[in-house]
Amino acid sequence: MRLNELPVWQDLARHHAAIRDTHMRELFAADPVRFERFSLQLDDLLLDYSKNRITDETLALLFRLAGDRDVGGWRDRMFAGEAINVSEGRAVLHVALRNRTGRPIRVAGEDVMPGVQAVLTQMREFVEAVQTGVWRGFAGDEITDVVNIGIGGSHLGPEMVCEALRPYAHPRIRMHFVSNIDGTDILETLRQVAPEQVLFVVASKTFTTQETLTNAHTARAWLLDYFGDEAAVARHFVAVSTNAEAVHAFGIDTANMFAFWDWVGGRYSLWSSIGLSIALYLGMDAFEDLLAGAHRMDEHFRTAPLEASMPVILALLGVWYINFFGAETHAILPYDQYLHRFPAYFQQGDMESNGKHVDREGRPVDWQTGPVVWGEPGTNGQHAFYQLIHQGTRLIPCDFIAPAISHNPVGAHHDILLSNFFAQPEALMRGRTLEEVREELRGQGLPAEEIERLARHKVMLGNHPSNSLMLRRITPHALGMLTALYEHKIFVQGVIWGIDSFDQWGVELGKQLAKAILPELGGDAVVDTHDSSTNGLIAYYKHQRAT
Ligand code: F6P
Repeated sequence: MRLNELPVWQDLARHHAAIRDTHMRELFAADPVRFERFSLQLDDLLLDYSKNRITDETLALLFRLAGDRDVGGWRDRMFAGEAINVSEGRAVLHVALRNRTGRPIRVAGEDVMPGVQAVLTQMREFVEAVQTGVWRGFAGDEITDVVNIGIGGSHLGPEMVCEALRPYAHPRIRMHFVSNIDGTDILETLRQVAPEQVLFVVASKTFTTQETLTNAHTARAWLLDYFGDEAAVARHFVAVSTNAEAVHAFGIDTANMFAFWDWVGGRYSLWSSIGLSIALYLGMDAFEDLLAGAHRMDEHFRTAPLEASMPVILALLGVWYINFFGAETHAILPYDQYLHRFPAYFQQGDMESNGKHVDREGRPVDWQTGPVVWGEPGTNGQHAFYQLIHQGTRLIPCDFIAPAISHNPVGAHHDILLSNFFAQPEALMRGRTLEEVREELRGQGLPAEEIERLARHKVMLGNHPSNSLMLRRITPHALGMLTALYEHKIFVQGVIWGIDSFDQWGVELGKQLAKAILPELGGDAVVDTHDSSTNGLIAYYKHQRAT
C-alpha cells in the first residue's frame, strides 16, 4: 500500500484537522510535566521536543506510521549491509566506519571491518607522522598548513567538523578548504600557504569531479612551478578516494592514497578516510572519539524502541509538519559559533538525500518529501531572519542547538547567549496576544489611540514549533552523536516517504550540460545550440569577455 493510502495516514490527516488550531500554550497549561514527558536524554545529549504541536495521540499515530512503514526493518537492513540504495544497487554502511565493537558487518558476505580498521591504522600512522614532524615537505620543512581540496560531501563534512572542534586543533596546523571551481577559491588559499610547508589532501570519492580535479591540478602546477621537480608531489599531495586508477593517473602515488568504499555515500563520508583532514587537524584520537560518539548514536538507533529513539522522534515530527501542516522548510539554528557550518552540512545531508520525486520503485510520490534546510548560528539569525519565523505567514519548524559549557568562557557571554537560546523557542511557542500587547503599551503610558494603532503590529501568534537540543560541551564525542542523530533522522524520513535517500541523480543533468557548454565558450563563434535564454547569456559573456 502506498503511503497516502495507509489507514494511519488518513487517521493522521483527521487528527491534524482536529488539533491544528490547538495552541501549545494550552497544551503546556494543561500538562505541568509536558517537558518531562516529551524530552529524552542520551548521555549528555538532551532533546526537548515538548514545544511541538503534538499530543499523546499525535505521537501514537506517528509511531504507528513508523511501524507500518517498517522503519525498524529498513534500519536493520541498513545495518546488515543490504543494498538499500536501490537505484545504485549499493549497501549504505557509514555505520560500519564507526563500528567500535568489532562486530562483523558484511557486504555480499564479506566482513568489511578488517578493511575499515586497516585504513584507520594507515590514517593514524600518517597523521602522527605529520603532526610530530616526521613527515616533512620536499625541502625538509614541517607541515604547517593542510589544504583539503574536495566538494560536496568531500568538503562539507571535514569543514564542518574542523570548524566545530577547533579548540582541539594541533597548535602548528592550520586548515584550509578549497571547493569552488571559481579560481578565487584556490588562488586565495594558495596566497596564504608556503609551498615548503603545505600538504594538499585531494578528497574525492570518484576522483572524477571536475571542480576537485581542476583545483588539484592548479595546486599541483603551483607547487611544481616552485620546486621544478615532479618528486615534490609525493611529499605534498595525498589522495582520499575509492578510485585508485584515477588517483594514479592524476600523478599521486597510490602509496599516498587512503581508500574507502562504494558503500559510503559522499554526504556520509566524513567518517571514512575523507575524514583525513579532520584527523590531521585534530589528531587521530579526537577523530576516533568522533567515531565513537557516532557509534553511540548508532547503537541507540539500532536498539532503542521506536518510541524512545531520538532519530525516529525527530524524523516523525518533521513528517508531521511537512506532510500535514505543509511546512516547506526546516531551520537548524546552532547557538555555538563553532557549529556555524552545521546547517550547511545538513543542507547537503538532508536535501541531497531526501530531495526526491519518485519512490524506490520509480513511481512519482503524491506527498512532499525533504524540506528546504537552512540556518545560521544564533544570535546572528535573530537579527536577520527570525522576524519572518515569528510573524511571517509560514510555518517553519526550528531546531535550536546549544552546549551548556562554552570552550571560550568570557564575562557574561555564554549566559547571554543561552538566555537567547532559551528565549527564542519560548517566544515562538507562546507568542504574544493582543491583550498582552495592549497591557504592555498601557504600562508604558501610551495614549489609547496610539495603543490601538500599534497593538496589532506587535501581536505574535506563537504556536511555532521547535526542538531544543542541548549538549554538555561540543566535544568530538558529542559532535559525533549529534551528527549521527541527524543522519538517522534523514534515513527514517526517507523510509517513511518510501524514497531512496542515498542516490543523487538530480545533480547529473547540470554537470552534463556544463560539459557540453564548456567547449562552446572557446572562440567568439555565436552559440545557437540552446534555448534563446541560454544562447543569449552565452552571447553576453562572450561579448563582455572580448571587449
Ligand atoms: O554533488 C554530487 C556529489 O556526487 C555529492 O554527492 C558528493 O558529495 C560530491 O558530488 C563530490 O563527489 P566526489 O567525492 O566523488 O568528488
